[in-house]
Amino acid sequence: MRLDTLLIHGGLEPGPAGATNVPIVQSSSFAHATAEDLEDIFRGRKTGQVYTRIGNPTTEALEKRLALLDGAVSAIATASGMAAITTAVMAIVRSGDEILASSSLFGGTFSLFRDTLSNFGIATSFVDPTDLNALAAAVNERTGLIFVETIGNPKLDVPDIPAIAAIAREAGVPLMADATVTTPYLCRGTELGADIVIHSTSKFINGTGSAIGGAIIDMGKFDWGSEKFPHFAPFVKKYRNFAFTARVRKLIHKDFGACAAPMNSFLFTEGIETLALRMDRHCENALKLARFLEAHEKVAWVNYPGLESNAGHEVATRLYKGKYGGILTFGCVDKEAAFRCINGLKLARNLANIGDAKTLVIHPASTICADFGLEEKALMGVKEEMIRVSVGIEHGADIIEDFGQALGLL
Ligand SMILES: Cc1ncc(COP(=O)(O)O)c(C=O)c1O
Repeated sequence: MRLDTLLIHGGLEPGPAGATNVPIVQSSSFAHATAEDLEDIFRGRKTGQVYTRIGNPTTEALEKRLALLDGAVSAIATASGMAAITTAVMAIVRSGDEILASSSLFGGTFSLFRDTLSNFGIATSFVDPTDLNALAAAVNERTGLIFVETIGNPKLDVPDIPAIAAIAREAGVPLMADATVTTPYLCRGTELGADIVIHSTSKFINGTGSAIGGAIIDMGKFDWGSEKFPHFAPFVKKYRNFAFTARVRKLIHKDFGACAAPMNSFLFTEGIETLALRMDRHCENALKLARFLEAHEKVAWVNYPGLESNAGHEVATRLYKGKYGGILTFGCVDKEAAFRCINGLKLARNLANIGDAKTLVIHPASTICADFGLEEKALMGVKEEMIRVSVGIEHGADIIEDFGQALGLL
């Protein structure tokens, strides 16, 4: 099946009474006929559900579909995108290891690496992911993981993921790519070349801003058997190319407990069906809005990889099928003008999310990035005069008219 069809039918089993949607199995635990049955499941001699923190039929349906979409060996759904990142990263690095990360990460991930994991003896060096020489030079014997975003949020830089994958391969470390902004629709995990892909399913996969969730996608290609990863040895021996999935499922995910809620898994399975149509419209509207803003006298600058003048245009064209995502940023003359523009918008909602069907705006410097200093803000491409727009799937002309009238008030 092609991707557009997999979005709708991938992993879908016939439901009870011929149900065509995935049933919501709202049960914390699952009973089995005999003590022997349950022992067999716990010992891995038989498959079966035990407890929703470890697995759930509704969540499993979502996981099957997500794995198919990225061409992966498995997917593990989690309570949020941050839970997916934390769980996946903690499965790989240990105290004394280092993470080599993009300097233009989503703020939550930046803070996880810089502030939280450093308290557990895991240091992170942040490097511009578009500077391949700097990235290669920053790898050292302690590096246990390279982490990047496919398109940085909100910097919107576009790292060359296959080239970074080659650096990671050479160094013998896994590459983890957060593909929240691009989704499997713009590029499937298999084509990206990353070893592990992360999605915040709260965004485009959900598509309606109705639930928080995340997913860890295991491409099953990394060699965890090297001496750099002795903690993987028992999993490699028993599960071979499922070693990462097994370590996550049997240890880290089970222990940290950031599991997906069945109701949310249902919402993501529903939402994902329309991903192809929505992404096409998000990308089309974003390009129209970027061109409109670029020509507007009250707009100082526009950052969107779809613009030919953009630094990420060439890489994005090559990696993402000539589509550039639904997020753009632009600058007014100063913060006050940016606030006035946001306050003047009638259609676009002022809130902290991306990937909704609705057009969303935020002033990152005073909200999601308010706790960062000037240096970090500069790394993340956050400027005082900047508005981030998650361009929705409304009629493109209505979105443009809304921004036109708000800018007209300046
Ligand atoms: C690129 C990216 N990764 C991860 C996350 C975290 O996802 P969640 O909010 O589902 O925890 C976000 C949230 O904005 C994001 O934009």
